[in-house]
Amino acid sequence: MRYVSTRGRAGSVDFEGALLSGYARDGGLFMPQKIPVLDCATLKKWSTFSYPELVKQLCSIFISPELIPKEELNGTSGDTGSSAIESVRAEGNSDEIDEPIKELFADDDFSRRHNLMSLNSINWSRILVQIAHYFYAYFRCAPSVDATPLPVVEIVVPTGGGGNLTAGCLAQKMGLPIDLVAVVNNNDIVHRAIQHGDLSLSRNLKPTLASAMDIQEPYNMERIFWLFSGSDSNLVKSLMEDFYTTKTVKLPLELQKKLSGGLRSYSVSDEEIVRTMRCCWEENHYLLCPHTAVAVSYHYKHSSCHPSICRCCLAPASPVKFEDAVLKADLTLDISPEISMLKDKETRSCTLKRGDDWAKLLRHQIEAVTKQRNLTLS
Ligand SMILES: Cc1ncc(COP(=O)(O)O)c(C=O)c1O
Repeated sequence: MRYVSTRGRAGSVDFEGALLSGYARDGGLFMPQKIPVLDCATLKKWSTFSYPELVKQLCSIFISPELIPKEELNGTSGDTGSSAIESVRAEGNSDEIDEPIKELFADDDFSRRHNLMSLNSINWSRILVQIAHYFYAYFRCAPSVDATPLPVVEIVVPTGGGGNLTAGCLAQKMGLPIDLVAVVNNNDIVHRAIQHGDLSLSRNLKPTLASAMDIQEPYNMERIFWLFSGSDSNLVKSLMEDFYTTKTVKLPLELQKKLSGGLRSYSVSDEEIVRTMRCCWEENHYLLCPHTAVAVSYHYKHSSCHPSICRCCLAPASPVKFEDAVLKADLTLDISPEISMLKDKETRSCTLKRGDDWAKLLRHQIEAVTKQRNLTLS
């Protein structure tokens, strides 16, 4: 399997090339050159698989066996990740933090010298494993996999940067019979783009209770435009370059029609998030995180629509991480001793303060880490 850039101006790479990088050289994002379509028999077979087995099957499709043989596609555990982590915190929002990161990735020489890679949804590998959520959710929710055609399941995706939504679109392209609903918080650019072709920044980022979705520049829409435009990289390149320069783009009508035909979308306020968290607790004694509540509020609003279709809401986080929202909903958190213990642990990070040159500071930090690592290795 080879990977190409959504902007079509960078050569193709294998999985390793896509994994060990961030943006493609031309500023685009990596996508698989071919999206395999699974037949009904395969879907039926997969329906009996556990979640780890599904991840393995999917990875074996998108990672060539010459690179990693299927039998070696296993998870790893241990402290390799945590022991290598250097953390940087910034006094800004997701979009502001993305800027210096983009700048460093655009510096080819620096990026290669320090082996920069990103593990957020800029990176194909994160999208790849998220595809498994949809297969797993489908098989858990579909009333039967013996019917022909297979029944449709509606999957509601709390959406910020559009990474998880991209994975859903890919699962759909692979033949999984799902209807996708993208639900955003008050930062509604994805919703406006899908409904009205309006890909434009609103005046200010609105801080919401679902803070991980407070995003004004949903970079994965680039992948979604590529998918819905039939891999039209010229169109994607001009749209995205225009968007990142002017911050206001009107999508071509044809693309907008395809988007609104293929995806439903909604925007949810903080009041609805709080109301949903409370309601779900009262009805089920299930505590939602505010991001999950964004999706579930769609469910409460549409519980009487399509009664024949099963619906699944994706839950991207634990409420334990979002105590403020839980308190706003007048609910209480039952924090396990393992989690409570973390609060007393020592923390170590460098802070990017407002007014600082963040790209320069990040550069210095990365150089220091490389130097330290080389010293340790020598
Ligand atoms: C808790 C949580 N919810 C939702 C999202 C949505 O992101 P995306 O739309 O890119 O999948 C994120 C992204 O990191 C997240 O951390």
